[in-house]
Amino acid sequence: MLLKRGAEAELRRTTYLGREAVEKVRVPKGYRLPALDDELRRARIRREATLMGEARKAGVSVPILYDIDLVGSTLVMEFVDGPTAKMIFDEGGKDAAATCRKIGEAIARLHRADIVHGDLTTSNMIVRNGRLVLIDFSLGEKTASVESKGVDLRLLTEALTSAHARGPQYLEAVLRAYRRAYPKAAEVIAKAREIGERGRYT
Ligand SMILES: Nc1ncnc2c1ncn2[C@@H]1O[C@H](COP(=O)(O)OP(=O)(O)O)[C@@H](O)[C@H]1O
Ligand SMILES: [Mg+2]
Repeated sequence: MLLKRGAEAELRRTTYLGREAVEKVRVPKGYRLPALDDELRRARIRREATLMGEARKAGVSVPILYDIDLVGSTLVMEFVDGPTAKMIFDEGGKDAAATCRKIGEAIARLHRADIVHGDLTTSNMIVRNGRLVLIDFSLGEKTASVESKGVDLRLLTEALTSAHARGPQYLEAVLRAYRRAYPKAAEVIAKAREIGERGRYT
């Protein structure tokens, strides 16, 4: 069953040794030289798998990786059953506040470990049994750069304020938890504001 066909990847429900799983295949880009394209897809799949492992070590929940196929540019991972943060925020309700706190704590853990997620939208966060699971590390990187961490927060800010009526409130709650859990939070938040005022990401 096809879950999503994006510009970069196709996601399908599958099973792996009898378990519910998701297969993520990076699609070839016709406009690139085939050899270069293969190399790029392989590098991205490897990076996504590596960062998932790093995030797990940093104490952030991520899907269990079942298999990686560099030749086929495919990751097979555990299917995480639960609503996305986007669904929870769309509903409003009392789960929204707890979700904000979990998001702030998860980002604090990533940034403390010098992991930048790269695509912090509310669709890349799934809540399963009360725990926040982060997915989609394909645009992430390992870096201590305050600028890169600031871009991470900036993307989240835009995702929250563009898609949710109560976005600004949610953002404040996320940042409160982030500050509590990350000593360098103030510096990164200031950078994210500066990037927003600049109106661009470079
Ligand atoms: N392990 C997973 N368990 C459940 N759903 C998933 C999982 N991985 C991806 N999805 C679903 O597929 C969508 C796209 O996956 P994602 O990894 O974010 O790909 P893309 O890079 O195209 O954004 C997610 O927003 C989510 O709804
Ligand atoms: Mg995604």
